[in-house]
Amino acid sequence: MRIKNCLTVMLLLVLAVSCSKDVLVPEPDVNFDENFLKSASPQLKIAVMSDLHYFDRTLLPTTEAGVEALQAYMAQDPKLLDLSTYILDQVIADLLAEHPNVVLIPGDLTKDGEKISHQSLAKLFKKLTNAGIKVFVIPGNHDINNPESYSFSSLAPTETITADEFASIYYEFGYKNSIRDENSLSYIHKINGKLWVLGIDACKYAQNTTGPIVSGEIKAETMEWIKSNLAEAKEKNIQVLAMVHHGVAEHYVGQNQLDPGFVVDNQVQVAKDLSDAGIQVVFTGHYHANDVTAVIVGDKTLYDVETGSLVSWPSPYRLIQLSGNKMFIDTRNVTAVAATLPGGMDFVTYSMLFHQTCLDGYFNYVLQLKYGVPPMSAATLAPWFRDAIMAHYAGDEVFGPVPQGQYAQLYQLSQLLAGALGSLYTDLPVADNQLSLQWK
Ligand SMILES: [Fe+2]
Repeated sequence: MRIKNCLTVMLLLVLAVSCSKDVLVPEPDVNFDENFLKSASPQLKIAVMSDLHYFDRTLLPTTEAGVEALQAYMAQDPKLLDLSTYILDQVIADLLAEHPNVVLIPGDLTKDGEKISHQSLAKLFKKLTNAGIKVFVIPGNHDINNPESYSFSSLAPTETITADEFASIYYEFGYKNSIRDENSLSYIHKINGKLWVLGIDACKYAQNTTGPIVSGEIKAETMEWIKSNLAEAKEKNIQVLAMVHHGVAEHYVGQNQLDPGFVVDNQVQVAKDLSDAGIQVVFTGHYHANDVTAVIVGDKTLYDVETGSLVSWPSPYRLIQLSGNKMFIDTRNVTAVAATLPGGMDFVTYSMLFHQTCLDGYFNYVLQLKYGVPPMSAATLAPWFRDAIMAHYAGDEVFGPVPQGQYAQLYQLSQLLAGALGSLYTDLPVADNQLSLQWK
C-alpha cells in the first residue's frame, strides 16, 4: 500500500461515498508424497504469509547518505524494509516448528522486484520444502519488471526480473509439474486427487513504465482457462486453494472510491466467476490489512481472506486447519526478531512507534496542505487517522480510540473527514483474526 497516494485519494473522494498453452508437465512430481493425504487427514494445515517485501541485505545502505535515503523512503512508504530479512527468518523458524503441509504466499514477495531479493527468497523457501512443506507463490504488483528496483547500497537502480524469470526462480514453488496459463503466470498444481492449488496472476507488470501499476485484472482468457480447468475439480469435489494478490472484494465500505487499485478490476464478475467455478475461499494480500470479508454470490458465499504484510503493523501471518468443508483460521503476529533495535527496544514497540511516527507525519502534511486544516486541528486529527489505518491493518477493528463527543465535533467540522474515519473503523463481516468458515 502506498500510503501517500492512497490517502490523498481517500480524503479527496470520501465525500462521494457515503509460456506454452495449458501444458501439464509430464515429469513425475518428486515432491509428491503418497502419505501426504493420509498425514493431512482429517486436517490439512495451511500457512499464509503475504507482502513480504523482502529486501536483500546487500541492498541496504552502507553510507550515511544511503541511510538518509532509506529513512526518507520509509517515512513516505511505511514498511519495515530494513528488518524484512529478520522478520522472514523468524516466520520461517516458526513455520518449521508448526510444520504446515502447505504455505501460500499471495504476492509482493520483494520490495520492488530486485533480482537478488528474489534469488535470496528462493533459497529461504528451500528450507521449508527441504522439511517437506510445500510452498506456493504468485507475483504481486511490485515483483516483476519494476522500474523502481533500487539499491540503497549503491544508491542506484538494480536489476529487476522478467515474468519468465519469475517462473524460473520460483519453479519449485508453484510452477513445477503444474498446468500453466499461457496468458499470465497463473497455474494449477494438483497436489493429489483431493487437493489443488490455484495461483492467479492478476498483475499488470507488462504495462509498467515509471513504476509498478497498483491495480490488477484477471484477463478474460485467464478466467476462461480457470473455468475450464476447474470443471474437473468441481465435478470430482476436489478442494481448490485459490490465491491472488489483489482483493476480490472491498475490505471496508467505499474502498474502491477511497483507495482505488486494491480490489481486482471487474470485481463483481470475478467473484461470480470464481464462485461458479467452485471456489469458496480466496487468499489475498496487497492492502497490507489482516481482514476477512464475505461476498454473497447468489446462494453461495465467497470469502476473501486477506493477510496483512509481514513488514507492516502488526506483521501477521495465518495458520489454518482445513477439514472437509470447514476452515479454522488463526492469526499470529511476529513479536520478536533477531536484530538489535534502537535503544534496545523490543520489536513490537519499535514497529508500533515506526508506523505511528510515519503516519502521523503524513496525515499532518495532508490535512494541512491539501485540506486546509489549521495546524492545531491537524495535530489532533492526524493520530486519529493513523490509529484508524493501523486498526484496519490489525483486523477486528473497533471504533474506540476517538472519543465519541470529539467525533461528533469532527462530523460537524467536516463530513468528509468524519466519513473517512468511520469507514476505516467499520469492520465488515466476518471476523478477521480467529474465525471458522464453513460452506456447503
Ligand atoms: Fe505490498
